[in-house]
Amino acid sequence: MGSAAASPPPSGKVSQDELKRVAAHRAVEFVEPGMTLGLGTGSTAAHALDRLGDLLRAGALPGVAGVPTSLKTELHAARVGIPLLPLDAASGARIRLSIDGADEVDPDLNLVKGRGGSLLREKMIEGAGERFVVIVDESKLVPRLGCTGAVPVEVIPFGAPHTLGLVRKVFDGLPGFHARLRTVVDGDLGSAPFVTDNGNYIVEMFFEDGIRGDLQDISDRLLRITGVVEHGMFLGMATTVIVANKDGTVTFLH
Ligand code: 5RP
Repeated sequence: MGSAAASPPPSGKVSQDELKRVAAHRAVEFVEPGMTLGLGTGSTAAHALDRLGDLLRAGALPGVAGVPTSLKTELHAARVGIPLLPLDAASGARIRLSIDGADEVDPDLNLVKGRGGSLLREKMIEGAGERFVVIVDESKLVPRLGCTGAVPVEVIPFGAPHTLGLVRKVFDGLPGFHARLRTVVDGDLGSAPFVTDNGNYIVEMFFEDGIRGDLQDISDRLLRITGVVEHGMFLGMATTVIVANKDGTVTFLH
């Protein structure tokens, strides 16, 4: 893993959102006229959408279009004036570059994504592109995936508690492991399953001290479960990770 740092002057106490904005703007510098882009989802990716919108309106990026990774991103991109393409149309045009945030980045640039619930479309679109630039503030760097919160798994609603049981079996006996269906508070109904843009549910897996072991093997075992659609471990997909650090530097990891 190589890295290079550029150093804007540190400017006192910088908020996490400002760091996200810095990383997003650096990623947008890679965008060239005519490119078709994968447009990520989340608060960091939102800064990239705003920046792209500004540049498009200024006429600086003619011919740029984007493939949104969620309904939320689709609405945001439309609002700021980014022309949109569906994934099937974009495959012909080639997605040259995807820009998205992440929940965690490990030292091998494997990611946890999807705590915002959009992992399936993100993985489809970012996996279809030529370059995948990930934008994070330094709090997202972890020694192992699963250190800081849930690793999401998208499952079909039919038999979801049964599928949850099969996911638990993959980690049978692992101390501190637990998994549950993600829920949302739903007014009078109390809690209801969280529903993705694809009409699916999310199983959240929690690890005491991150995932130890062969990530590819764990991925394969999860994907072999009938009822699992996809999981939020993005292994070997990121081509560059742009990290905005609290000391004002920006690090590029490859
Ligand atoms: C959404 C994602 C997001 O990229 C991830 O959750 C990071 O979000 P944020 O930029 O808001 O910290 O994977 O499904």
